[in-house]
Amino acid sequence: MRHNGYSAPEPPGAAELLAEVEATAKDGLDRGRAPLGPGEHTEDELLAHFEAVVAADEKIEPRDWMPDAYRRSLVRQLSQHAHSEVVGMQPEGNWLTRAPSLKRKAILLAKVQDEAGHGLYLYSAVETLGVDRESLFQALHEGRQKYLSFINYPTPTWADAGALAWLTDGAAIVNQVPLCRSSYGPYARAMVRVCKEESFHHRQGFDALHVLSRGTKAQKRMAQDAVNRWWGPALAMFGPPHEQSTHSEQSMRWRIKRYTNDELRQRFVDICVPQAEVLGLTLPDPALAWNGERGHYDFTPPDFDELRRVVAGDGPCNRQRVGNRRRAHEEGAWVREAAVAHAAKRREGVR
Ligand code: 3HC
Repeated sequence: MRHNGYSAPEPPGAAELLAEVEATAKDGLDRGRAPLGPGEHTEDELLAHFEAVVAADEKIEPRDWMPDAYRRSLVRQLSQHAHSEVVGMQPEGNWLTRAPSLKRKAILLAKVQDEAGHGLYLYSAVETLGVDRESLFQALHEGRQKYLSFINYPTPTWADAGALAWLTDGAAIVNQVPLCRSSYGPYARAMVRVCKEESFHHRQGFDALHVLSRGTKAQKRMAQDAVNRWWGPALAMFGPPHEQSTHSEQSMRWRIKRYTNDELRQRFVDICVPQAEVLGLTLPDPALAWNGERGHYDFTPPDFDELRRVVAGDGPCNRQRVGNRRRAHEEGAWVREAAVAHAAKRREGVR
């Protein structure tokens, strides 16, 4: 494998997604409307104020009144998102000790640490909604809250670490760029930083695959096999088709979400095809073809029955992923206790 000084070309479409993130970074920071004072307004006035803020594409902030259902939906989505970042460290964590070079190991380590950081931004964002973090961990460990389906698939070869990052971090960016404009301020602001970091994650996966696909025949085959394994889980990440999506309509009305699951899936496919061409790899779908009338690629939808099974707990690695998370939480208890004791001492002025 060539390493020194080698760098893959820019993945087509990636710069445009980052430009969209930059464009949203300052959106909604200044809000014309002041928050309504507590106890001074009727429920109808509070609701009208909430709806006006959302309709004006301004941000709802933690200090604001919000409908209970809006709060619940945010807690649901944000905690699932936070859990996905943290449990999502495992499939690639599997390759940290076996990365093929020092450079790849350092890159992968930075990437996996970033995912932990994303989890922390997002757990902090959920806490602004009045939920404590420990209860979220409990819900995850007891299977009452979810994390994204793709995390339950294995990474049997080094190329899987690359394909996972190229495809699922690529899908995560497509999903998260519109979330930078989410109506809930702490979520939107967390997403700006997350998207910028995801862009590096995506790029490093693309780069790793680019090297493999230009290596020996066996390396190219390994890259292609990994892409064959990850294409379906990446497409399924966007969730069920619109007509089966429980939350999309309401979430779009509240501007938590901006697009349907199917619209984002299509955008992802359209971005991936030229990237696969640069990689010299084939996306495993014989139906994939440009449709001039629609202005999009046609493609075969993912297996939604498989998605349902994996989300229900019956994927190849569900038990292992949750078991590892639970064990890490238990074994890390002393670190949390030490941090709390240290913070208490500092508050008392003890050094
Ligand atoms: N995996 C697991 N559950 C899924 C799912 C998936 N791929 N897609 C949908 N679901 C669940 C939903 O959570 C919902 O279940 P619930 O009612 O129990 O909460 C149900 O299926 C119905 O789906 P809906 O379409 O009605 O749900 P949403 O409107 O919430 O849309 C979503 C689903 C698109 C996943 C949305 O919640 C979302 O955008 N979430 C944030 C994205 C996210 O979690 N990103 C994490 C990326 S992980 C990552 O980047 C780490 C990696 O790089 C290592």
